[in-house]
Amino acid sequence: MIKFIVANWKLHPVTAQEAETLFKSVLGGVKGVKNVDVAVCPPAIFLPLLNQIKVKKIVLGAQNLFWEEKGAYTGEISGPMLRQFGCRYAIVGHSERKQYFYETDETINLKLKAAFKAGLKAVLCAGESDRGASEKEVAQILETQIQNALAGIPKGRLADLTIAYEPVWAIGTGLTVTPDDALKAKLFIKKVLMNLYDRPSAERVRILYGGSVNSKNISDFVQILDGALVGGASVDATEFVKIVKIASLA
Ligand code: 13P
Repeated sequence: MIKFIVANWKLHPVTAQEAETLFKSVLGGVKGVKNVDVAVCPPAIFLPLLNQIKVKKIVLGAQNLFWEEKGAYTGEISGPMLRQFGCRYAIVGHSERKQYFYETDETINLKLKAAFKAGLKAVLCAGESDRGASEKEVAQILETQIQNALAGIPKGRLADLTIAYEPVWAIGTGLTVTPDDALKAKLFIKKVLMNLYDRPSAERVRILYGGSVNSKNISDFVQILDGALVGGASVDATEFVKIVKIASLA
């Protein structure tokens, strides 16, 4: 399966000028790199600007979306709105959204459905919070989160789904899971998908790792998983380009 590297810029950078410079530097760096898919998810307000920089190599994604298309929902942005500005992906259920914006399994499910309805592909995040969680506990947490997120979603949609295994304790901390634990998580996620749907549908879903990914550790993860969801290192163009290049060789 072709590797997939997703940049989650989170709330960076502050100015449109910086966003444009960063995007153009990444574009310049990954030009001509084959055998890897790349998505960049900037703050939504920069999407119209970045969408004007026409490129084939990188697709744009959103970090979040609302589940209704329109209505009295102050401050929200919907799937069809994102689509108009070049978005092809949406990250759904990121742990920072659960932590700071009270997202629940139920709203994540609504958002996943809304993303698919709008024609967006989804990068669904799942993972345990506690670094000390046992293998069994991690498996249980992943199963519950994934089952709830996918409730009522037909198997045909799995072609548009990527799952990012993001242990919360590894995000922004410099800590990562061991390659062995990443492999266990991937196999377990596949098993959950096979139980919920069937093997061919489960096989279509790319499984990424997220949490303190950088150019030094990416090769470990792309040997085992289908790619990575990159936070901090994705707003450093040099570092992100290195990550993409290493993934393209995996
Ligand atoms: P860091 O790469 O900064 O740890 O963030 C990971 C993440 O949350 C990506 O969505």
